[in-house]
Amino acid sequence: MGASNIAYALLLLVLINLSNHNIKGTEAFHQIYENLQSESVESVNHLHRTGFHFQPPKHWINDPNGPVYYKGFYHLFYQYNPKGAVWGNIIWAHSVSKDLVNWEALEPAIHPSKWFDIGGTWSGSITLVPGKGPIIIYTGVNQNQTQIQSYAIPQDPSDPYLRKWIKPDDNPIAMPDYTMNGSAFRDPTTAWLAKDGHWRTVVGSRRKDRGIAYIYRSRDFKHWVKAKHPVHSKESTGMWECPDFFPVSLTDFENGLDLDYVGSNTKHVLKVSLDITRYEYYTLGRYDPKTDRYIPDGDSPDGWDGLRFDYGNFYASKTFFDYKKNRRILWGWANESDTVQDDILKGWAGIQVIPRTVLLDTSKKQLVFWPVEEIESLRGNYIRMNNHEIKKGQRLEVKGITPAQADVEVTFYVGSLEKAEPFDPSFTFIPFDLCKMKGSNVTGGVGPFGLITLATPDLEEYTPVFFRVFKDTSNHNPKVLMCSDARPSSLKQDRGPLPKERMYKPSFAAFVDTDMADGRISLRILIDHSVVESFGALGKTVITSRVYPVKAVKENAHLYVFNNGTQSVTVESLDAWNMETPLQMNDGAL
Ligand SMILES: *[C@@H]1O[C@H](CO)[C@@H](O)[C@H](O)[C@H]1NC(C)=O
Ligand SMILES: *[C@@H]1O[C@H](CO)[C@@H](O)[C@H](O)[C@H]1NC(C)=O
Ligand SMILES: *[C@@H]1O[C@H](CO)[C@@H](O)[C@H](O)[C@H]1NC(C)=O
Ligand SMILES: *[C@@H]1O[C@H](CO)[C@@H](O)[C@H](O)[C@H]1NC(C)=O
Ligand SMILES: *[C@@H]1O[C@H](CO)[C@@H](O)[C@H](O)[C@H]1NC(C)=O
Repeated sequence: MGASNIAYALLLLVLINLSNHNIKGTEAFHQIYENLQSESVESVNHLHRTGFHFQPPKHWINDPNGPVYYKGFYHLFYQYNPKGAVWGNIIWAHSVSKDLVNWEALEPAIHPSKWFDIGGTWSGSITLVPGKGPIIIYTGVNQNQTQIQSYAIPQDPSDPYLRKWIKPDDNPIAMPDYTMNGSAFRDPTTAWLAKDGHWRTVVGSRRKDRGIAYIYRSRDFKHWVKAKHPVHSKESTGMWECPDFFPVSLTDFENGLDLDYVGSNTKHVLKVSLDITRYEYYTLGRYDPKTDRYIPDGDSPDGWDGLRFDYGNFYASKTFFDYKKNRRILWGWANESDTVQDDILKGWAGIQVIPRTVLLDTSKKQLVFWPVEEIESLRGNYIRMNNHEIKKGQRLEVKGITPAQADVEVTFYVGSLEKAEPFDPSFTFIPFDLCKMKGSNVTGGVGPFGLITLATPDLEEYTPVFFRVFKDTSNHNPKVLMCSDARPSSLKQDRGPLPKERMYKPSFAAFVDTDMADGRISLRILIDHSVVESFGALGKTVITSRVYPVKAVKENAHLYVFNNGTQSVTVESLDAWNMETPLQMNDGAL
C-alpha cells in the first residue's frame, strides 16, 4: 500500500472504532476518545477554517488561558492537543501579538512533566506580581486523576516573549483537602492583592450538585490557604469551571477596572462555566473584601437562567485587564458543531472568538460586549446603504464585499411597535424554543427582520440572525427576541444516527433588554466562514454560532437583509466590509 492508502486505512479504522462508540467516558465533560486523542492529523481541510479568528494550523484547542498584556505584547495561552484533533494530551500552547490581530506562535509554555501535573496541564491564569513579574497558576492532574493547583514562572521575566517557563520545586500550591472532591477542583483565576496585603484567587469546584467558587489567600504567592467559606456557591448548578471574578465601575462606562481596584462605586461580576450544560452564566453583585463573600444582586438571576456573556457556542471564557488601554478584554472558546468524525477528517477543532471589551451597561443591570477596536484594522472593501425600506417578504442583497469573511453593522428603524405580536402567555419563555417555534420563515408583526448570512441565493443554506418584537400583554412593553438560527445553515448529510454523528444546528436565541423607545435596533455581525458572531443592540446580547455550509462557501456565499414581518422596516444605515486575513497567522512553532 502507498502512504496515502495506509493513511486512508488508518482513518477507516479510526472511524470504525468511533462508530463502535469506543468512548472511555467524560472528564470535565469532554468526551474522551482514548484511541483517537493521539491519532496524527494527515492533512488539514481548509474549507471551514476561519480567516481572522484565532486558531492554530491544526489539532484540537479549547480554553483560553492566562491572557495578559506584558512588555508590549498580548499573550494568549490555550489548551491544546499537540497530537490530534480531539481532546487529549493537553498542554499550554502560547502565542503573542502586538495588536490582538496578528499572532505569532511560540513554543508551548507548559506541558505535563512533574508528579503534580503528569496527567495534564489544564486551565489557569496569569497574575502580574510586583517585583516578580508574571506568574502562571494552573490546574495540574496527577497520575491518580487528582486535580492540584500549581504555579510556573518565566525563566527570564525581562523577555517580553516569555518563552521559557519553569515549575519551581516548591510546587504544588494547593491540594484538595478532605472536605473537597479531588476530581472537581480547577481553573484558578488571576489573583489580586487585597488591602490586607494578602493575595486572593478563586478556584472552581462542586460539592454534590452545588457549584462552588473557593477563595484562597496567600501572603507570598506560594503558600495558599483556603478561606473558611467559599466566595460564592449555588445549589443544583453542578461543577463550576473557569470562574472569572472582576469589578466593574458604576460611574465610568468607558473603561475597565483592574482586579485590585477598591472603591465604593463598583459592582463585581462572577461568571462560571457550567460543566453540565456547557453554558456559562454570570451575576452582578457585591463583594465584601473583609469577609471574602460575594452576594449577587436580588435582580440578577443566579442559576441556569442567569445572564450570559454569549448565548451561543461559547465556553470557558476568561477576561483580563489591559492596562495599556484601560479596558477589560474577554476571550472565549467556540467549539465545533460538526461531528467528531468531521473534526478528525478536517484535522482541527475549536477557535477563539474575537476578543471583546467588557463594560457595565448604563442600565447597571447587565454587561455589554464589543469586538476590540483593533479588529477594524482588517476592514477592507467597504459598502454603505442608507434609508432603504424593506417591506414584508422582501430580501435585499448586500453586494460588493466578500460575504464569507466580513464585518457588517446595520441599524434598523422600525418606528411604531403597534403591529408587534402579543407575547402570548402560552409561549415558552425559553428563547431557544421560541426561536425554534418562530424562525425567520414564520411571518410576524414587527419582525422577523435582520441579516441572512452565509446563504445560497435560493436559501437552500443560510444562517439568519434576526429580531422579532413582541408586546407584553400585561404592560405593553416590547419584548425583543434575537435569534441566530443554525437549523437551515447546512445541507451536509449526517453520518449516522448517534448524536455524536449528527451536526449540531441549534436555534440560539436570547431576549434583548431594550424598549426600542426610539424605534431603532442595531446589529453587528462578524462572519468568518464557519463562525457567525452577532452583537445585538450594541452588544447587549451576543450570540456566536458555528455553521458548516457546503454550498454557501467562499465566493458562493451571499449576504442579505430581510424582513418577514408585516410592518415595514427601514435599513437606516448599513456598513459592510471585507475582512482581510492577518498577514502573520499562527503557523509558527507548533
Ligand atoms: C495514587 O493512588 C495510590 C493508591 O491509592 C497511592 O498509593 C498513591 O500514593 C497515589 N499517588 C499519588 C501521586 O497521589
Ligand atoms: C466528584 O467530582 C466528580 C467530577 O465532577 C464526580 O463525577 C463525582 O461524582 C464527585 N464525587 C462526589 C462524592 O461528589
Ligand atoms: C460543543 O459542541 C457540542 C455539539 O457537538 C455541544 O453539544 C457542546 O455542548 C458544545 N460545547 C462545549 C463547551 O463543549
Ligand atoms: C421569509 O418567509 C418566507 C415565507 O415563509 C420564506 O419563504 C422565506 O424563506 C423567509 N425568509 C427567511 C430569511 O427565512
Ligand atoms: C422554516 O424554517 C425551519 C428552520 O429552518 C424549517 O425547519 C421549517 O421546515 C421551515 N418551514 C417552512 C414552512 O419552510
